[in-house]
Amino acid sequence: MKNVSRREFLNKAGQTGLAVAATSALGRFGIAQTLRATRVVIDSGRQISEINPHLFGSFLEQLGRAIYEGIYDPKSKFADADGFRTDVMKEIHDLGVPIIRWPGGNFVSGYHWLDGVGPKKDRPAVLDRAWNTLETNQFGTDEFITWARKVGTEPLFGLNFGTGSAEDAAALVEYCNIDKGTKWSELRRSHGYEQPHNVKFWCVGNEMDGPWQIGHMEAREYGIKAADAARQMRNVDESVKLIACGSSGPFMPTYITWDRTVLEQCYEYVDGISLHRYWGNTEETNNESSKYLAMNLAMDRQIEEIVAVCDSVRAQKRSAKQLFLSFDEWNVWYRARSGDAVNGHRTEAPHLLEEPYNLEDALLVGGLVNSLIRHSDRVKVACLAQLVNVIAPIMTNKDGILRNTIFYPYAWALKYGRGRALSIQPEGPGYEVASLGRPIEDIGLAAPGFGHVNYLDVMATHQPEQKTATIFVLNRDLEHEQELELNWHDLTPSRVIGFETITGSDLKALNTFADPKKVVPQTVASPSVGSKMSVKFPARSYSVLTLAV
Ligand code: AHR
Repeated sequence: MKNVSRREFLNKAGQTGLAVAATSALGRFGIAQTLRATRVVIDSGRQISEINPHLFGSFLEQLGRAIYEGIYDPKSKFADADGFRTDVMKEIHDLGVPIIRWPGGNFVSGYHWLDGVGPKKDRPAVLDRAWNTLETNQFGTDEFITWARKVGTEPLFGLNFGTGSAEDAAALVEYCNIDKGTKWSELRRSHGYEQPHNVKFWCVGNEMDGPWQIGHMEAREYGIKAADAARQMRNVDESVKLIACGSSGPFMPTYITWDRTVLEQCYEYVDGISLHRYWGNTEETNNESSKYLAMNLAMDRQIEEIVAVCDSVRAQKRSAKQLFLSFDEWNVWYRARSGDAVNGHRTEAPHLLEEPYNLEDALLVGGLVNSLIRHSDRVKVACLAQLVNVIAPIMTNKDGILRNTIFYPYAWALKYGRGRALSIQPEGPGYEVASLGRPIEDIGLAAPGFGHVNYLDVMATHQPEQKTATIFVLNRDLEHEQELELNWHDLTPSRVIGFETITGSDLKALNTFADPKKVVPQTVASPSVGSKMSVKFPARSYSVLTLAV
């Protein structure tokens, strides 16, 4: 191997089919070692956390065709008496989406909730300045609650912190949550909603650190306003759960300092803080799929950084309270991100942010699911952004529904990402991601790489009541299948309940209305089960293996 770098060696190994022999994480410390399979030990006693049922929520913004033509379309052949599309409702109900954020997003920072309640004929059509769209207000607070109850999801309301005041926020809490006998609760009752809506979760503003945001402000100013609004909202309903608006992401020059300054002002008044992030196979990853598929490690890093800020402010304040994290916008989004894709040209229900999703996007979404499970001790709420038509797993046209590729890993997260997250430390072959390029939004800082990246990103959940366990595996190896050795410490697998994968030869393949089944899950032959078992995962794949234990 003289005069051959490790990278060259790996490339040569790949070309000759030697493939999976590669350096392990130990190799970084100078211990010469090659591994053929990735090895994990599964011990049900090594829990990360009970997974909060809200970990795999989603988001519907009053934007593009998410609401109008998406979930609400009185003229559709699928519409029910409320104007809701029944085919879309069924899809979301069957998915079991636990919590949905609404109405924004950037939209919320110019939204007057009073425009969207009361008799529909009296509601004004207004210009939404966030997306330059004509907003008819035919769908508002009461419609969202009615729809949410029908699909069986919990509402997560965003508050207008751009043009809206703390008093407006408290008034909306009163409208939604007070039984009767006050100005705003009686207004709700006069609209035909006798019972309170009981909205528990509230986002106190959206991306207020961003210069693009209506009413954008300085961190200290926002923190003071958030504390004031939180006090007023709690005076109306002390049971509300409040999420402070955290940084829009690491690309922001104010990343971390924003979060710290905000929390210094409002730590005692809120319960959680928000994180947002969108990924893409862009200059940041040098358009290289192997780098792109490592980007869920950037989510791990972001979560760990925000946890550090929260806990440092907590220590500074000698507070008994620990904040939770709400990763309430996460997804792949990099194509439909400029020009006409973000400009509604003052029309109703324009086609905005209609991102096409291919196989590699679905694989990364699978990796992001793994990262959320890995951090389920602190991330208690998270929302795939978004749900219908706008950067979405579900698309609609007048004749039906299309499942984008990212639908499948999200559906698996909802089905199997429950119970307890187990701590496992995979050790195995991989590749180096020493550095990254410019992020989508450049701040002139070099993005750090990840060093050794395992081919297999592995997470496990355990459902003791059902006596089941699920293994979630992203195989980042673009050329070869990879083997996983599962060593069961205390549980004994007795049979395979299901083994599905999403994979294919073309990472750029996608589903369309004309060809909707190009990328769909495939069933994999069951491996033999035992206290030590070996399972093979195809190249370029994301898989879920569920076992009776
Ligand atoms: O989800 C699309 C947009 O992305 C949201 O409106 C905003 O919060 C974020 O920048």
